[in-house]
Amino acid sequence: SRQFLQTPRILARHAPAASFASAQFKVCINGGAGGIGQPLSMLMSMNDSVKEVSIQDVTMAAVPPAGVAADLGHLEYPSKVVGYATDPSKPAVDQLEECLTGCHLVLVPAGVPRKPGMTRDDLFNVNAGIAKGVVEACAKYCPDAVIGLIVNPVNSIVPAMAEFYKKKGLDPLKIVGVTSLDIVRANKFVAELTGKSPGEIEVPVIGGHAGVTIMPVFSQDPAAATISTDKIPALDKRTQDGGTEVVEAKAGKGSATLSMAYSGARFGNKVLKGLAGTPTDECAYVASTVTELPYFSSKVTFGTKGVEKIHGIGTLNSYEQGRLKEAMDQLKTEIDKGLEYAKARS
Ligand code: NAD
Ligand code: LMR
Repeated sequence: SRQFLQTPRILARHAPAASFASAQFKVCINGGAGGIGQPLSMLMSMNDSVKEVSIQDVTMAAVPPAGVAADLGHLEYPSKVVGYATDPSKPAVDQLEECLTGCHLVLVPAGVPRKPGMTRDDLFNVNAGIAKGVVEACAKYCPDAVIGLIVNPVNSIVPAMAEFYKKKGLDPLKIVGVTSLDIVRANKFVAELTGKSPGEIEVPVIGGHAGVTIMPVFSQDPAAATISTDKIPALDKRTQDGGTEVVEAKAGKGSATLSMAYSGARFGNKVLKGLAGTPTDECAYVASTVTELPYFSSKVTFGTKGVEKIHGIGTLNSYEQGRLKEAMDQLKTEIDKGLEYAKARS
């Protein structure tokens, strides 16, 4: 069975690889030689509907992208894997034509991770510049591709990049912030508390991807809804602080990489499933009219063109209504930072 395409399961691969003929999608991973990039590239190379994976990173990456590609090219899956090393002192747009042309999905974990004591917002200046190079090249070579931005701070970088797409007359909904790791964490923590299988739990996480903007809606998952209300604030806080928990445990050597690669593949596989004709849902951070904020994460249906429908936030209990206000207050500031960045560079 190929359950990993439907649910976040990877161990179900007992069947031989699918035929080369059924593989149809080209996927690029920018920052593909990094901590997230390598395992994410591996998981995307293992999707039977993927015919080609571009692994792009800079010339001074810890491992040459061509090496990561040669390694993954031996997996018994249909995907052909090609590495691309670029010079960061030269415009990305001049170097990425072959890497991006024909791509259906671009996943972007290129960027600097946090160290203990830093906020995601502290990464904005350097990471927005990296994202801009990649996104401008996507606008030129694969304007119809879905661009999944993993690079932090997602809350500000997604608005900045979506505004660039708007200015170029492209669809800003091609720019999608990947917030799946928050869902994965919420599901796992609820499973641990309730004893239910993590695979049966699906907690919507709305808002954004930093601190109080990460808003798990426990009342909307049947298992999570059985948890007594006095335990919810701590569960909520643990989900919000999941990233910091990993940053501190890694003690200066990076942030979540393996759980992010898993979550990025969960997101990427859902997008590809939608592109292949089976509409599939995942909460994601996109240009939105669901609240009065112009960007917001809520359930999105991915279809044959990418984002097909953005769903409302549904019914919230009184605790969640209070949290929504708190989340929106912080998110507004972070969105404005991204919009200002885009405005200053138009
Ligand atoms: P890392 O340092 O291990 O890897 C980043 C890679 O990006 C490196 O290989 C680096 O060479 C590459 N890179 C730098 N500039 C580049 C450019 N111009 N073009 C292409 N590649 C470039 O970091 P990581 O742990 O993989 O984290 C990457 C980013 O993902 C960070 O910003 C981190 O905060 C973010 N992140 C987001 C989430 C989320 O939930 N959205 C989760 C975890 C990490
Ligand atoms: C996470 O949630 O793990 C990422 O956003 C990385 C971080 O800096 O916490």
